[in-house]
Amino acid sequence: MHIILFGPPGVGKGTQAENLSKEFVVPQVSTGDMLRKAIKDGSELGLKAKKYMDKGELVPDDLVLKMVQIRIQEDDCKNGFILDGFPRTIPQAEELTSIVLANNIPKFKCIEISVPDDIILERLKMRGRKDDQLNTIKKRLVVYQKQTYPVKEYYKKVKRFYKIDGNKSIEEVYNNLKEVINI
Ligand code: AP5
Repeated sequence: MHIILFGPPGVGKGTQAENLSKEFVVPQVSTGDMLRKAIKDGSELGLKAKKYMDKGELVPDDLVLKMVQIRIQEDDCKNGFILDGFPRTIPQAEELTSIVLANNIPKFKCIEISVPDDIILERLKMRGRKDDQLNTIKKRLVVYQKQTYPVKEYYKKVKRFYKIDGNKSIEEVYNNLKEVINI
């Protein structure tokens, strides 16, 4: 199973990726979690990433790509993986296509989870992560529109794009997601 969970901050990508990962026994590859771990570990990547993440901006492509390239070639990714929060820019999507072609990885389904912005704001304010301050959430939503939204067109063009309503219970969203995965 090779899935991209796509959508703005707070739509439930991480929640759904974790559940899918457990049921289908394929790893959740969350670039946000990997970057937060790098910050916690105090690595060079973490030090570089922190200043962007704290402001709600995207971490530069070269840093993220190096990290993802290594991760998805690890053994546990052999039977598939769920990308959560990647790709987020056109260069990231293009690089993913190159990796897919070079490694005979089956093509992805890119599934957008969609939730209105006011619901997103409520969800993230309740969660209270470091980058969940109101101003930073708003910045993340603007960054999503500018830099990540075009990735949707990229997958639409190659007919790999699907969309589900994320403004439902976690269980309902999960069941809808599985319906799309099984198409
Ligand atoms: P990242 O960690 O990827 O954050 P994000 O995309 O902003 O997503 P979130 O984790 O906020 O939301 P989510 O969609 O996973 O929702 P969740 O399931 O947590 O990225 C953080 C930062 O890292 C970025 O800003 C950037 O700086 C950097 N970064 C990461 N990837 C990058 C990349 N590829 N390139 C460059 N930079 C990158 O749910 C949110 C909340 O809602 C939770 O409390 C959850 O319990 C709740 N919830 C979930 N589903 C439901 C539901 N159906 N009903 C009610 N509540 C729900």
